[in-house]
Amino acid sequence: MSDESRPSPAQPPFAPAATPVATPVAAVIPAAGRGVRLGPGAPKALRALNGTPMLIHAVRALAASRHVSLVIVVAPPDGSAEVKSLLDAHALPGGTPGGGRGSTDFVVVPGGESRQESVRLGLAALPPEYGVVLVHDAARPLVPVDTVDAVIEAVRDGAPAVVPALPLADTVKEVEPATEPGAPEPVVATPERARLRAVQTPQGFDRATLLRAHETVTDDVTDDAGMVEKLGLPVVTVPGHEEAFKVTRPLDLVLAEAVLARRRLNDGF
Ligand code: CTP
Ligand code: MG
Repeated sequence: MSDESRPSPAQPPFAPAATPVATPVAAVIPAAGRGVRLGPGAPKALRALNGTPMLIHAVRALAASRHVSLVIVVAPPDGSAEVKSLLDAHALPGGTPGGGRGSTDFVVVPGGESRQESVRLGLAALPPEYGVVLVHDAARPLVPVDTVDAVIEAVRDGAPAVVPALPLADTVKEVEPATEPGAPEPVVATPERARLRAVQTPQGFDRATLLRAHETVTDDVTDDAGMVEKLGLPVVTVPGHEEAFKVTRPLDLVLAEAVLARRRLNDGF
């Protein structure tokens, strides 16, 4: 009788009733942009909100999900060392071994010329065991964990690509873009507002779908789900959140700090 066929008392001969083990989730955070629309200064992701770099807020927001066990930060091309020391300097949720929430690992890679290129460089650092991948803009530092978890749940339920989305407040016009800035632009069409959505991040993907999209789609796109659409695969929305807005222009910094102040009041400080 071999050792394998003689179960020890500590190891029952049968596995306990199967609990399907959910595939681990990794998040790629592109943070390599300059932030031209925010005006002169440090790269946008390194600008502070209430004293803490935007990127750290964004990393915390993703690591706050107990499902996310790896965060890959795509740093400004010459800023990897700075980003690594920022991550070391700030206490991050889930980072404490034995903390009971599962720990989160962090990896930093340098980014590229476009957001698409930066995401691709982040995906190149993705270990094989991660079956679900989120892509989240560092410029959306305040996304609530419930939004992150809703995206993960929809991917785990079988959607190849999931985007958080909100109805629009403004009516949207399609125009013939003017060649000189500020010149009047002819309106071409008015899409029915009720059918339009503004999409946010994190966008969530089945790993193979996202990798294939980044390997095969070369058109310029502004989000990752758009690449999956170009493959002809279905993309679905889940409800987004107003606090997941993108910090783009100077006024957005004011709004972000106001949201943080409101959270602190609500948390009883
Ligand atoms: N991004 C990136 N690499 C780039 C360009 C953008 O990782 N080459 C990231 C940004 O850091 C940001 C996200 O993609 O987290 C969304 O981009 P956007 O809001 O446009 O940020 P920026 O490109 O930095 O801003 P701007 O377009 O005003 O320069
Ligand atoms: Mg940009």
